Amino acid sequence: ALPDRVRIHEVGARDGLQNEGALVPVEVKAEFVARLAATGLRTVEATSFVHPKWVPQLADAEELMPRLAGLPAQYPGLRLPVLVPNERGLDRALAHHATEVAVFASATETFARRNLNRSADEAMAMFRPVVERAAAAGVPSRGYLSMCFGDPWEGPVPVEQVVRHGLALLEMGCVELSLGDTVGVATPGHVNTLIDAFTRSGAPVERLAVHFHDTYGQALANTLAALRSGVTVVDASAGGLGGCPYAKSATGNLATEDLVWMLNGLGVETGVDLAALTATSGWMARHLGRPSPSRTVRALLGP
Ligand code: HMG
Ligand code: MG
Repeated sequence: ALPDRVRIHEVGARDGLQNEGALVPVEVKAEFVARLAATGLRTVEATSFVHPKWVPQLADAEELMPRLAGLPAQYPGLRLPVLVPNERGLDRALAHHATEVAVFASATETFARRNLNRSADEAMAMFRPVVERAAAAGVPSRGYLSMCFGDPWEGPVPVEQVVRHGLALLEMGCVELSLGDTVGVATPGHVNTLIDAFTRSGAPVERLAVHFHDTYGQALANTLAALRSGVTVVDASAGGLGGCPYAKSATGNLATEDLVWMLNGLGVETGVDLAALTATSGWMARHLGRPSPSRTVRALLGP
């Protein structure tokens, strides 16, 4: 059975733009987020408070936040989460009135080192006070877990290893766990196996989200598999922007338009206006100087 409704967690402004070679001006980012909110998306990840040398594309987080401050009043229910890797990042986010944050762990050692300069367990220890302090400030934390299916350096990742790290994020207080296929190697059977392993280990399926990158063209099939396993929160990126600067071979996320096209066809509600979203991705593609990789965007906008 499929859910009646899916909540899309839009990551284009963060996962998408963090991987662009060109630095996008802060005014354009602000307009991008505003346009995404206007399409009906209600969870729009805005930026990251990471080290500016690690991700220069998002070094303007402090300048972006005040430009977004009016959006939640304009679009009731709008959530604008931001990534924070550590307490320094949380301090910056709270100082700029973030109302939702996300920490990002790794299921593998190699990626933890490359992305966070820590072992996987050291990274967990770094996140714990972040999640606790955020909760004390009334700010919920999402937990991302990267490399849930395969890792470009370590190969296939054992399901038990993924479950151990994912449960650690839930136990420390993350309200949602986003299972990341950072390099896009997952296939639908593996998705079902992983989600079943989580639910059998006591993770409520309502708290799981899926985060697919489309490197091998599997993101939509993997999403459908996850929905059939009971997941109702899906991460996607407008126009299919994205990747991760610290994961070789990661390409764009599942395109939000491709997702909405499929869900519209299945009669699953998202609240998103596909025409407005496609126009937004076309507008962003012109800013980035390259066409959107989304098949739906290309089909609807033409060459
Ligand atoms: P580090 O070098 O180990 O940091 O980096 P440190 O803790 O040793 O601190 C060194 C200096 O950096 C200190 O300054 C800190 O204050 C400063 P000093 O005292 O020497 O003057 N510093 C900061 N400054 C500003 N903001 C901060 C911050 N933290 C420390 N937040 C660190 C460790 C975690 C900071 C670094 O590795 C980092 O920023 N990594 C982020 C990498 C990243 O953003 N990757 C992309 C997001 S993850 C992703 O895309 C995957 C996902 O989409 C899911 C999927 O697809 O799988 C979520
Ligand atoms: Mg990602």
